[in-house]
Amino acid sequence: MIDIHCHLLPGIDDGSPSLETSIDMAKIAVADGIADVVCTPHIYPGLYNNAGPDIQRRVSDLQSALEVAGIPLRLHYGADTHLVPGLLAQIQSKTVPTIDGSRYLLLEPSHHVRPPQFKESVFELIAHGIVPILTHPERLTWAAQHYDDFTDLAKSGAWLQITGGALLGSFGNRAQELAERFVGDGWAAVLASDAHSATRRPPQLAAAKHRIEQLVGGDEAMKMVMGRPAAVLANQAIPLEGICIAAASGVAKPQRSWVDRLFRR
Ligand SMILES: [Fe+2]
Repeated sequence: MIDIHCHLLPGIDDGSPSLETSIDMAKIAVADGIADVVCTPHIYPGLYNNAGPDIQRRVSDLQSALEVAGIPLRLHYGADTHLVPGLLAQIQSKTVPTIDGSRYLLLEPSHHVRPPQFKESVFELIAHGIVPILTHPERLTWAAQHYDDFTDLAKSGAWLQITGGALLGSFGNRAQELAERFVGDGWAAVLASDAHSATRRPPQLAAAKHRIEQLVGGDEAMKMVMGRPAAVLANQAIPLEGICIAAASGVAKPQRSWVDRLFRR
């Protein structure tokens, strides 16, 4: 399996506090069947001022430490990027890294307040060739009241990333129900751990993958932990009907006119 969202780098955000914890987390990931992890520290202006080149250097350092420790886990770089004004320019300057320099960007909307111009901001990124992967919509307190925002964005090419722990109830009943709704309705594209530690929020996907198998079947579960994450790492484009079940089943019709209208193309 491939985990595209993990706070594995030590001492850079609210994830792993030390190299020792990062190594423990890496062992847990390997034991769970994870072969690749994208290291995605927060980028949140004023709180976590991380930047692409430094993240890449830290990933390289941690990869070396894992090799010394004999832990067979491949690392990749990225960031858990908070959605803020001016983000596009920061991506273009590579201050904000996409995943391994690909078209795929992990994008975190604010937790408690629907961002102003939310859909328009995401559409702008899509219009510039970026595929935003919206992190854990099931855990955003405003998402249930704005469910259509996320389905509209998925119809336009954004991906929805569900958190493994949320599907298992680790973030409460509301997040679990919404995670099951996104998966069950066929809008979720990918599963990730969003791990922050070796104990409370560990890097594991297998149990949540099993829950997805129960909800929508084994083929889709594999796409969420292998097929689509592998396409991310390979920087391969996936046609809209391949992003989620709802699109493949024809429930979602491409709505490029949203973007077209926004940019008058
Ligand atoms: Fe995260």
